[in-house]
Amino acid sequence: MLDADLILTHAGELVIIADPAGDAMPRRGTTLAELHILRDGALAAKNGQVVWVGPMGQCHREVHLTAGGTEIDAHGRVVTPGLVDAHTHPVFAAPRAMEFALRATGKTYQEIAQEGGGIINSVARTRAASFDDLYRLARTVADCMLSLGTTTAEAKSGYGLNKNDEVKLLRVIKAINADHPIDWVPTALPAHEIPSEFKAQPDEYVTLICEEILPAIAAEKLAEFNDVFFETGVFNRAQSERIQRRAQELGLGLKFHADELSDVGGAQLAAQMGAVSADHLVYISPAGIAALAKSNTVAVMLPGTAYYLDLPKRPPVRQMVEAGVAIAVATDCNPGSNMTESLPLAMNQACVLYKMSPAEALVAATINGAWAIRRADRIGSLAVGKQCDLVVWDARDYRELAYHYGVNLATVVVKNGCQQSFSRP
Ligand code: NIG
Ligand code: FE
Repeated sequence: MLDADLILTHAGELVIIADPAGDAMPRRGTTLAELHILRDGALAAKNGQVVWVGPMGQCHREVHLTAGGTEIDAHGRVVTPGLVDAHTHPVFAAPRAMEFALRATGKTYQEIAQEGGGIINSVARTRAASFDDLYRLARTVADCMLSLGTTTAEAKSGYGLNKNDEVKLLRVIKAINADHPIDWVPTALPAHEIPSEFKAQPDEYVTLICEEILPAIAAEKLAEFNDVFFETGVFNRAQSERIQRRAQELGLGLKFHADELSDVGGAQLAAQMGAVSADHLVYISPAGIAALAKSNTVAVMLPGTAYYLDLPKRPPVRQMVEAGVAIAVATDCNPGSNMTESLPLAMNQACVLYKMSPAEALVAATINGAWAIRRADRIGSLAVGKQCDLVVWDARDYRELAYHYGVNLATVVVKNGCQQSFSRP
């Protein structure tokens, strides 16, 4: 008999995701759709770790629930690993509903940015906000993510754009990580935009990033990754490469906002530099697809942003899958280009707009999301030994997660073996 302090019973579909042969690499090609479903399944955990997964019929014979332990009856519903959102910008001072309204009347994201809106708008307000205000706002984002089934999210800075304010944002992320059940994996993003005070001398801002901002972040161990917005009119190839080389020297993993609004060869640069992920990729070229297919860089698709900005182009996702690119799906949760915490919504958008199957979208939002933030050894599947992060969905068929949208189907969320309860502050 195995001791457990949490038992989950009667899962109509226990979507394990984990490959019984082991998950040594991000999923690609046909393996992107492999869910490994156990019907009428059960799962047990101890001290926050999965210790047993098997058929319901064997559960009570093989597992003993210790005194004071929790039993969750899934009543035939779908159970999946907690979702992993591999790309978010969750710390900012104020909403930008005004820009949303402008876009609804025909202005583009780039036009709004050129007129002083966009990222720079958030930067001004985020710089003016205190740590406490930002912490309080970030907590509401974290609560919302968790209630929607996201148990781990990557979290970027990027609205400070100077040393003190980038550090302030990353300290907020660290504080959320320390005292909120959700896990936020910190990514530095001082290269999100060129701040107004450096518009005329962007290279001087690049120097500031390399010589002051990134070293300060690394000295306090505030980030695991560094991201750059490599884009026409933002950071060019030489600047992006310089920033990322410095980040590598400081021990940070690399991520790129790549080929989001134009084909700048971002996918190729990300693959060449051994980046953990290349994100957006709406304008990825055939050469970019080939470069990613040969690499371990995960392509993080953000269909919600393409939808929200009503971009005139869709990325060639079917070609990417066929070529063997490892794909994750994430929200890009941010106040400008996609104001939502909902990863199930992104899964719906991946199916409708990017023609991924519901199975692919689920793998992309779990184990491949975990690969995109170097957490595949701990999360993203319900394998024995992994963190017990799971969601019971109000669904009988896993396809409903992507199909039934605009409502929250997450009925029970377990993080680190603890059942969560939600209250909006
Ligand atoms: O991922 N592309 C750059 N950054 C965000 C937008 C952030 C904002 O508008 O505040 C993005 O789309
Ligand atoms: Fe982004």
